[in-house]
Amino acid sequence: MRQSDYISNIPINYRKEYGQFFTPSLVAQMMAKWVTENHPEKILDPAFGLGIFYEEISKLKLQYQWHFTAYEIDNNILNYLHNIQNNNNLTIFNQDYLESDMDYYDAIICNPPYLRFQKFKNRHDILPKIEQQIGKKLGGYSNIASIFLIKALQQLNLNGRLAFILPFEFFNTGYGKEIKKTLIENYLLKQIIIFANEKDIFPDATTTICILLCQNDQLKQEIKITNIHNTQEIKEIANISNYYHHQLNNSQLPPQKKWTSIILSLVSDQKIPEGFCKISEYGNFKRGIATGANDFFALNKSKIEQLQLNDNNLCLCITKSNLIKKAIFTDDELELLIKQDKPIYCLDVQEANTQSVINYIKLGEEKDYHERYLTQNRQPWYKLEKREPSPILFGVFNRGKLKVIRNFTQVINLTCYHGFYPNIFGTNIIDQLFIYFISDIGQDIIKMNKRSYGNNLDKFEPGDLNNSYCPNIEQFDAMDKQKVNEIIELAKIDEKEAILMSNKLIKSIINR
Ligand SMILES: C[S@@+](CC[C@H](N)C(=O)[O-])C[C@H]1O[C@@H](n2cnc3c(N)ncnc32)[C@H](O)[C@@H]1O
Repeated sequence: MRQSDYISNIPINYRKEYGQFFTPSLVAQMMAKWVTENHPEKILDPAFGLGIFYEEISKLKLQYQWHFTAYEIDNNILNYLHNIQNNNNLTIFNQDYLESDMDYYDAIICNPPYLRFQKFKNRHDILPKIEQQIGKKLGGYSNIASIFLIKALQQLNLNGRLAFILPFEFFNTGYGKEIKKTLIENYLLKQIIIFANEKDIFPDATTTICILLCQNDQLKQEIKITNIHNTQEIKEIANISNYYHHQLNNSQLPPQKKWTSIILSLVSDQKIPEGFCKISEYGNFKRGIATGANDFFALNKSKIEQLQLNDNNLCLCITKSNLIKKAIFTDDELELLIKQDKPIYCLDVQEANTQSVINYIKLGEEKDYHERYLTQNRQPWYKLEKREPSPILFGVFNRGKLKVIRNFTQVINLTCYHGFYPNIFGTNIIDQLFIYFISDIGQDIIKMNKRSYGNNLDKFEPGDLNNSYCPNIEQFDAMDKQKVNEIIELAKIDEKEAILMSNKLIKSIINR
């Protein structure tokens, strides 16, 4: 309850600044049970928030004396705690955990803030201090969640247990390598829990997450991989140690390799083929333009005529996902939409220098569009961000098949689609990439990075797509150019056939 009160009272931007996203009680309960199995007396939570872990451990009614130490940097959130602060077995330090002195614990339980380290104000002072505490150099930048983990691992007593929520991407990035080395070489890592339908379980999360369970027992054991599908499943787990779907030995998780694909290929029917690389090698997906008031900005031809707006203050734009029905979007399709009077324009004020545009802006203000969440933070409120037309559009929300469009027009798009912006390596393989995206193999591999919203509805953030896998440049180059052109032509009239041909072509380059 405290969580929902807090979330409804505190602006999202404030919560983001501190990385305040809360652990659902069922998940906290599962972690609490695990860390307390060996009767720890000294327990630590480095990022207390509203104290869900303390609450869940208290509910376990442990039959011995235990003490809980917590750190929380935000004084404001502590004001929401009310009655628990006076408990004898709880000490909360209103202080930065990363600056705290080294002490040692029998159990550590944590959902750390996910903030890019660059955003962390005291980073220049803190990093050397932590490096000294842990006796390791930490090159490069990363998410501060991983620095919380590095420090916490050093604070575990012998046999101590640690349960940590982390962004799944940590397995692939900068500091990740150093931590993975520590986890593997010291036999600390016992279990990795991932979530198949994450949005059901962590409705509040903005990134894909996982849970690490570690124990400082120096026992060389297999690492368990658990894939949880829904909240009901968590309710039914009696003991998480006995609930797993796969086991890996330490050599199957080499620290220098990216672990996400190793782990995901275990739980998915689809394996990532040999040689595949990240889509980000060829460019980046970016979200479309967020207007903050589509009703005001999205326009059709007749409304434009009625308002007497001139071309200078308009741009051609896909304002809704269902405006595009086919996989190939050409100028002919665009003409048709204009003829059908669809909202295929967006107000894009270059200069508010004609009476008609001034009137329309005034009308918007009368309807309070300028006081919406996004518009009030823009200067002036009707000025849109800039985007170039993108050659490949990708549906943000998808049910079943992923919606991918090869865009041959100069239209830009609102947030209903993410647009792909190729770099020099991607520019020459746009058609090949599109063919991969529509193929069954491509769709299955990209779906490995989806965020499930339940009811078969999947969402992708641009980063989820950028981090997905696709053929490497030699594999793309090996695609028969004539076949590529044939598929594009075929997709204009018969998408199903085009997919079948794409499947064959992609299989042929994978099996080379
Ligand atoms: C992801 S929230 C988790 C809160 C709570 N433990 C839970 O699981 O619901 C992280 C918390 O750490 C706090 N925090 C952020 N930076 C911190 C720091 N450097 N030291 C201590 N706490 C910090 C935030 O204010 C936030 O309350």
